[in-house]
Amino acid sequence: MTPDSITERFPAIEKLAPTLTTLAKKHGTPLYVFDRGEVEKNFRAFRDAFATEKLPLEIFYAMKSNYYGGMLRTVIAEGGGIDASSHRELELALAAGARKIIYTGPAKSEADFELILRHADSIAVNLESRRELKLLSSMAAKKKLAVRCGVRVVTGQQKGWSKFGIALKDLPSFLREARKLPGLDFQGIHFHISLNRTPERYVGTLEELSSTLKELTAEERAGIRYLDMGGGYIPAAFEGVPGWNPNQEMKFVGEDLDPMEVVGKDWNPRYTVPPVSPIGDFAQEISAALRAHIFPLLPHVQMYAEPGRFLCHSSMHMLFTLMDLKDTRMGVTDGGTNMIGWEKYQCYHYVPLFDLTHFSLTREVPFVLYGSLCTPDDVWGYYLHASEIQEGDLILLPYQGAYTYTLSQQFIKDIPPVVDLA
Ligand SMILES: Cc1ncc(COP(=O)(O)O)c(C=O)c1O
Repeated sequence: MTPDSITERFPAIEKLAPTLTTLAKKHGTPLYVFDRGEVEKNFRAFRDAFATEKLPLEIFYAMKSNYYGGMLRTVIAEGGGIDASSHRELELALAAGARKIIYTGPAKSEADFELILRHADSIAVNLESRRELKLLSSMAAKKKLAVRCGVRVVTGQQKGWSKFGIALKDLPSFLREARKLPGLDFQGIHFHISLNRTPERYVGTLEELSSTLKELTAEERAGIRYLDMGGGYIPAAFEGVPGWNPNQEMKFVGEDLDPMEVVGKDWNPRYTVPPVSPIGDFAQEISAALRAHIFPLLPHVQMYAEPGRFLCHSSMHMLFTLMDLKDTRMGVTDGGTNMIGWEKYQCYHYVPLFDLTHFSLTREVPFVLYGSLCTPDDVWGYYLHASEIQEGDLILLPYQGAYTYTLSQQFIKDIPPVVDLA
């Protein structure tokens, strides 16, 4: 991955510009625009990477990364399932028509299990503790059900993630207890590791898991029918690290950050893009590790994955209007960063911004683009692609769909509507 991963999308942005301008005229701004074609492309890239390795894989989209209904329906139409992690998410998934669901997430309550049991045909539950195990067993047994379930394990590769699941060393005793309890069809093992730029930690987890699987009897292993390797696959990201803040430190305006100082200096480079292994490399190395360490012990296991970011990262565009030009290097848009819920572009990530009214692919000028919230910590970025800049211009923040809309909040302003690109 090179900085070209950003610039190579510029021609696609130029093509989108007329449609986005029409949508902004029709629906007003601020606006989220959902781009279904991107999701189809991402889904197929993920699926095909593993298919090339001859690894059958069920994909369960982690909807926490973007819960928009169109997003869910697109994944389902592609043949995917949904990974839901709360009562709210499960209801949204069911409403979108999901019939293949993995339910994950810590501290499940009786109310969560009530809803799960009402849809037990469509759901496998990844359990997180012995309390959950016993509670699900007693509730399911009363209803004379046999609920598909598994357990989440934490290995040495998930440092700092000890609040989740059970320690890998406790897997044999957990499995033996689960198999004795009524109401359960205990059949799965789950792990998750976030934000992987390379396949290394998946491979490490599979190696550790194989040692523990060897402690089980052949009969105990034969009952393990799914292995769910979670999400965490970083896409060839359409975002960079700002040159002025290479360590991505949290910085707040009025404390240690003066935006005018950022635009006042010539940063070289303006941004960098940290390397990410292509999804084909993830598929290749994970498949090799499965063949070496897992399939000899679990020859019939079905593999599951729960990609979130990978599927939705490019699924949404955001549109704003430049309301007030305060200076040649500063302006305020109608959309505020309540649309993304945090200071992502203020100090953490660089993403190019485009003036669609005065469009330029090549001319990117220093310009502090603020949102309209009553706080100075409301910055979209420090550069704008524009041939010139005027009040009333339509501004695009393209291809930002992961952990943005889903983190939006009603801070001061309403959450703007979402419209579909086509
Ligand atoms: C259990 C589980 N699965 C999948 C995901 C999705 O991760 P990502 O969006 O990084 O693919 C998460 C994210 O935190 C998760 O907790």
